Amino acid sequence: MASVRKLSLSRQQTISLLRFGSRWRCGRVISPLILKNNLSSLVKTGRGGRSSFSGNHVTIFGSTGFLGRYVVNRLGRMGTSMMLPYRGDELDTRHLKLMGDLGQIEFRRFSLRDEQSVKEMVRYSSIVVNLIGREFNTWHFKMDEAMGEGARTIARACREAGVKQFIHVSALNASGDSPSAFLRAKAAGEAAVLEEFPDATIMQPSWIYGREDRFFNYYANLKILPFPFAGVPFLDRGLKTVKRPVFVVDVATAIFNAIHNDETVGQVYELAGPKEYILFDLVEYLYQVLRRPFKPYSLPRPLYNLVAFAFENSPFDPYLTRDILIRQHLSDQLKAGVPGLEDLNVKPTAVEEAALGILRRHRDALHYNETIDELHAP
Ligand SMILES: NC(=O)c1ccc[n+]([C@@H]2O[C@H](COP(=O)([O-])OP(=O)(O)OC[C@H]3O[C@@H](n4cnc5c(N)ncnc54)[C@H](OP(=O)(O)O)[C@@H]3O)[C@@H](O)[C@H]2O)c1
Repeated sequence: MASVRKLSLSRQQTISLLRFGSRWRCGRVISPLILKNNLSSLVKTGRGGRSSFSGNHVTIFGSTGFLGRYVVNRLGRMGTSMMLPYRGDELDTRHLKLMGDLGQIEFRRFSLRDEQSVKEMVRYSSIVVNLIGREFNTWHFKMDEAMGEGARTIARACREAGVKQFIHVSALNASGDSPSAFLRAKAAGEAAVLEEFPDATIMQPSWIYGREDRFFNYYANLKILPFPFAGVPFLDRGLKTVKRPVFVVDVATAIFNAIHNDETVGQVYELAGPKEYILFDLVEYLYQVLRRPFKPYSLPRPLYNLVAFAFENSPFDPYLTRDILIRQHLSDQLKAGVPGLEDLNVKPTAVEEAALGILRRHRDALHYNETIDELHAP
């Protein structure tokens, strides 16, 4: 027979604790204040699966994006209670609703320009993850504002709310003197975050690939280019660019493993794949997987820029901009001594292991399975 004890935290916040033998379990109501006040060990329940409760209340900004769905899924599977702020249509969050158990995920509208709304999002959380980013300027937000000042607003709100851990996702090679405006905005964001929240954990992923990515899918979609552009355009045939793309599942697992890991406090992690590839070889391999003829050609930079400029001015989200073009042809450089995926207990996945799962839907012969050794690694 269980004994019951009431735990009062304030006039409004009361939970009932049930005692089974020598163990205390939480009753029906779990107050966010309990999570915030380091009492989470009292409310941890279950064996660590989806229907258990991990004791963490996590806010994830930018959850409606590509990486967001993997991070939310990873946390939801372990019974984490989540606050997912969003700004667009409610339908943007639809796929996230089922990633946690009933009542574990809460969605709220916010605006990065409204500091009060940002504070509301982190008020009850002990952990906050910032995935907000954009690769191009939009009518409402310039990249600097979304990834620089926006990151500062979130970091400041976290500090004021007493958040215990703040994980900020930046980008590999973010630097104030990068030729790419995106990477300069990311560097400004990192600096702002560290000013406001010096203990923040910074993740710097290289180009991330996965089913919903803008890297493999970009090259795969070039297969539909009509004559006279048919083929894959590169600057310098992609022979001068070295890439280390990272698998989205690895990045999500790294973020998950960083949570409640005291060693990650104040650290910067470079999240890159296990192998380096020349861009040309990598795309040639992707076309092998696609079972499509690979027809590379060099476009002069001014002409490629002109094409990118046309995309930039289209009414839709551009897959290519002049800035993305710069980043596509920038080599990934890892700094010596900076920790990476292995330091977060993640075994990095090589492109060859994941490419088919991502690209199969671009194939004409969808159900064709290659024979052993038919594909040659780049
Ligand atoms: N994907 C990559 O290859 C890559 C590489 C390096 C670094 N990163 C960084 O990793 C993070 C996640 O990447 P991702 O690929 O998941 O990005 P994504 O698909 O573009 O998603 C970005 C998220 O940020 C939100 N967002 C953008 N601007 C916002 C604003 N002004 N106010 C509020 N929310 C805003 C988006 O919300 P909406 O859905 O409402 O637009 C979306 O949820 C980003 O910081 C990105 O820069 C990504």
